[in-house]
Amino acid sequence: MLTCRTERELVDAIEESVCNKLRPTEHEFIMSFGGFEAFEATKQAIVKVVNALKKDEATTIGVYGMGGVGKTTMVKYVGAQAQKCRLFNQVIMAVVSQNPDLMKIQETFAELLGLKLEEKTDIGRASKLKEKILKGTGILIILDDIWKSIDFSSIGIPSHNELQRCNSKVLLTTRKLSVCHSMDCHANIHLNILSEEDSWSLFVKEARKYPLDKSSTFYDVARKVAGECAGLPVALIAVARGLRDKCLDGWKEAARRLQASQPPNPEDEGDVFKCIKLSYDYLKSDDSKSCFSLCCLFPEDYDIPIEYLLMYRIGKGMFQDSNMLEARDTTYSVVKDLKDSSLLLDGRDDGCVRMHDVIRDMAILMMSLSEEGQRFLVKIGCELKNWPKIDAHKGYSAISLMKNKICKLPEELVCPNLQILLLQHNASLNEIPKSFFQSQNELRVLDLSYTRISLLPQSISFLTNLQALYLDYCRNIIDISVIGKLHKLEILSMRECALEELSREIGQLTNLRMLDVSAKNCTWNVDFWTGGVKLMEKEKKLILALMN
Ligand SMILES: Nc1ncnc2c1ncn2[C@@H]1O[C@H](COP(=O)(O)OP(=O)(O)OP(=O)(O)O)[C@@H](O)[C@H]1O
Ligand SMILES: [Mg+2]
Repeated sequence: MLTCRTERELVDAIEESVCNKLRPTEHEFIMSFGGFEAFEATKQAIVKVVNALKKDEATTIGVYGMGGVGKTTMVKYVGAQAQKCRLFNQVIMAVVSQNPDLMKIQETFAELLGLKLEEKTDIGRASKLKEKILKGTGILIILDDIWKSIDFSSIGIPSHNELQRCNSKVLLTTRKLSVCHSMDCHANIHLNILSEEDSWSLFVKEARKYPLDKSSTFYDVARKVAGECAGLPVALIAVARGLRDKCLDGWKEAARRLQASQPPNPEDEGDVFKCIKLSYDYLKSDDSKSCFSLCCLFPEDYDIPIEYLLMYRIGKGMFQDSNMLEARDTTYSVVKDLKDSSLLLDGRDDGCVRMHDVIRDMAILMMSLSEEGQRFLVKIGCELKNWPKIDAHKGYSAISLMKNKICKLPEELVCPNLQILLLQHNASLNEIPKSFFQSQNELRVLDLSYTRISLLPQSISFLTNLQALYLDYCRNIIDISVIGKLHKLEILSMRECALEELSREIGQLTNLRMLDVSAKNCTWNVDFWTGGVKLMEKEKKLILALMN
């Protein structure tokens, strides 16, 4: 029975009573959810998170725990349940990652809130976003994977008092407790590693080796292997899947290797490293390994188009004797193998894959330590303004410097083993020095898309092995005639280049398999012929020739 003196009090009391009825019990909260498993450690953390979310005075709640322990999985689950149980009216989530892209975060939130952000500046977008959040009520804002303190107001997240007023809260995840502190979290919740028994049941489920009880000859070795995964789901799944079709000796060998393994950075996720490395080593083919390593050349939390993997693989010269269809089939089946091994995840969009951030870190580390001539150098989205010092003796075979602010390249690229060079999305780059490509190298794939270059230097003709050249969205480019000398070129991609005429020299590229010159407002001469191949026009918008 409600006893209230004023109407206001009555309304408040009714609201409170309804809310209490709607608020879920812990049991209701932790129900099954596709793919999600309520491990003991996860349940304990969820109860703490839900309690913190119910407290009015707490507006920022931090979840921390080791890489691959299940933070993202848990907060996604909490978000879905919080909405289902009407603890919040709306849940929005964005990934911050090691190199935060403010605009991407803002756009993700805006899209989820049904808001169109047309403002050009970060501040403009932040203020629009904030306005929208303040107009709503009961929004749970999830910021996943924070590495260093980030200013909420720069994104457009309201202040503590404002969040309180609109019953909204922030739930963030990070690997480090110090980040929770620097973000002034009102509750810091640790997600622990899995208990021995939870680790074991996850391992058994993923290894699909039934029965894996004490009667099985695999039991003792399997227990050892599972124990080496240090209670981390990401490692347990990768190792169990890697061993699925191995015989007893294979399992024994794995246990030996895991026990003996000296990870390069023991205090830094050493256990995950050795587990991912084992799962990589156990991949069925070198083809799968090479495709896996290509994925770490893309940014973190990125939807990697499988078609790009296909093109880079063709560029590396992997399909000399196959046609496009065969190359595509092989690539898709390798990707499936990698997904089955849990080394790759489904992408958000169809036709894309993703790499878990722990696995990507390990892949980058692994490729930076691999033998001379096979090493990778990956520095993506870290605001690099200058070309990094590249020790020619390190023998890099791939360099990815995508999404930086590099404006000047060295006079000469001295990197004799280099096969892949990815420089796309360096919008400040407007010139390539004349002799840049003069030194002897093995370059096969070169991506200069989304740069401001206007010319390709004459020295590009030294790239006699070049098989794939990407110049997409190079809107300043005026002359590409020099490419006529790249006789081995198989892929030439020039989407949305503002060239007035397609260079006749393309006709000399007799090995071309794929030419993409699609553009929205194209003015190409449609009767243009190249070495026996006619470029086709589709609705005057797309000219795309697919050969072979
Ligand atoms: N509760 C769970 N139920 C089922 N699978 C899980 C669970 N927690 C984690 N996993 C598995 O472990 C993998 C790693 O989990 P997740 O991505 O959540 O880790 P994380 O702590 O966010 O890692 P990082 O610090 O790298 O962001 C997931 O891809 C999933 O396969
Ligand atoms: Mg995560």
